[in-house]
Amino acid sequence: MPFLKKRQSKADRLIARNPFFYKLAEPVFLSRNFQRLKDIVHHDASIADHAVSVAYHAFIIAHALGLHAHLKELVRGALLHDYFFYDWRTARPRNGKLHGFAHPQEALENAREDFGPLTPVEEDCISRHMFPLTPIPPIYFESILVCLVDKVVALAELVAATRIHQG
Ligand SMILES: [Fe+2]
Ligand SMILES: [Fe+2]
Repeated sequence: MPFLKKRQSKADRLIARNPFFYKLAEPVFLSRNFQRLKDIVHHDASIADHAVSVAYHAFIIAHALGLHAHLKELVRGALLHDYFFYDWRTARPRNGKLHGFAHPQEALENAREDFGPLTPVEEDCISRHMFPLTPIPPIYFESILVCLVDKVVALAELVAATRIHQG
């Protein structure tokens, strides 16, 4: 695990917690562009921290429920659901539209470019994760799980961020 030599981020700690999760997540996590997400602020930490947290918790839930058929797609889709490279507080997606509505499409385009072709489950995890803000709901168990876990993790991160700002 070469990344362990550097100062550990929240993502680094979480990804090493379960060897099976690490095996599934490693090809995306260690890629050069995914590592760039460690430097982009999101909620209380970085996009990488957030994406790994969503992937890890979705993985744990699916694993506990015995739903193993698409675990790799679940982990990859969750890791890539916010695969965009801008600070949403100060910049907009490429198409100039509002971040909340447009970033799933930008994440999908970026993910296709770096990791494509994606499976339908992976595409659904990324493109539908902002439902109900975006109107089309996810249709697979894995993408529904990513959609739900993303909201819980984001809420927990926002609460943590509020505590940090309050000192
Ligand atoms: Fe998102
Ligand atoms: Fe997210």
